[in-house]
Amino acid sequence: MKAYILDAYDKGNQLRLGEMPDPVVGPDDVLIEIHATGLNVIDSKIRNGEFKLILPYKPPFVLGADFAGIVTRVGANVTRFAIGDAVYGSPRQGRIGTFAEVIAVDQADVALKPANLSMEEAASIPLVGLTAWQVLVERAKLQRGQRVLIHAGSGGVGTFAIQLAKHLGLHVATTAGTSNLDLVRELGADTVVDYKAQDFSDLLSGYDVALNSLDGTTLAKSLKVLKPGTKLISISGPPDPVFARQQGLNWGLRQVMRLLSASIRRKARRRGIDYSFLFMQANGEQLSSITTLIESGAIRPVVDRVFPFAALNDALAYIDTGRAKGKVVVSIR
Ligand SMILES: NC(=O)c1ccc[n+]([C@@H]2O[C@H](COP(=O)([O-])OP(=O)(O)OC[C@H]3O[C@@H](n4cnc5c(N)ncnc54)[C@H](OP(=O)(O)O)[C@@H]3O)[C@@H](O)[C@H]2O)c1
Repeated sequence: MKAYILDAYDKGNQLRLGEMPDPVVGPDDVLIEIHATGLNVIDSKIRNGEFKLILPYKPPFVLGADFAGIVTRVGANVTRFAIGDAVYGSPRQGRIGTFAEVIAVDQADVALKPANLSMEEAASIPLVGLTAWQVLVERAKLQRGQRVLIHAGSGGVGTFAIQLAKHLGLHVATTAGTSNLDLVRELGADTVVDYKAQDFSDLLSGYDVALNSLDGTTLAKSLKVLKPGTKLISISGPPDPVFARQQGLNWGLRQVMRLLSASIRRKARRRGIDYSFLFMQANGEQLSSITTLIESGAIRPVVDRVFPFAALNDALAYIDTGRAKGKVVVSIR
């Protein structure tokens, strides 16, 4: 199969378009002919080597964590899918590789594609949709009427999280740049802070959850907007000891994670706030619930740009600018 191959970890490295062996299909796997792949910031971070210790992929390997496509083969134990199904998903840790024509994925990580979306639109959803779901629904367990601050509302995670939060009946505040204020309002945000002109921590207070996807300064400031007894959940770090344990990291790395997050955990504790780091887990069942929300019209994809397969490196360079409005997708066939 044709695939974009990472030959060596390096910041800004171009991926090489080459041939890789077709994937082996295990008994629980479905083989998927990929029609489109979504790009994510984590693709760049993995390429740069920032995740080497946590996700030890050995070059040469294929990057990519979002796909939409057609099932072309099923393993012996597969019950949830049949050949010809249109599906989408994000493969579990250790099994990335959607910058390719074909991938084998555990059936538990796959869901039927929303019928009202194109392959390109569907490929934009899984990783950010599951991240937002796991923060707002699974971890924060937010209830109708509660208040959530979602940072970077115009980004991949933000555009999905705002819509999901509104569907859950929450009051949503978000931060966005001047040129993206209309976009986040149109997605449903109730309170919008222009991060280029205002400091959100001077304007907001009494929130129940903050979803941080930005830097350490924003993370620490977010404590100021939360009530005691609430949750600060970060998807951009620093990782905490619970995450280190869940990842099965060795003693040394667990201590590193403890140290990296010691300051924010201490500051949060002083205010009676629970700090945690969340790392998206593949989950076909949650993705099926997302399919239902998309088909009902509660959530729509926000796709900034679609690149052809031949221009995948340009798509990754665009992600690296940090200026994407919603998602960046590559069409594969
Ligand atoms: N832990 C996990 O499982 C997980 C999952 C998904 C993502 N993440 C992480 O979450 C972060 C965000 O991911 P993403 O895909 O949403 O990123 P993204 O789509 O690349 O974010 C770009 C957007 O962020 C906005 N932005 C930049 N700086 C901002 C600021 N200071 N305040 C408000 N908005 C700002 C930009 O708007 P302007 O152009 O107006 O600046 C742009 O629209 C990344 O670090 C990613 O690695 C983690």
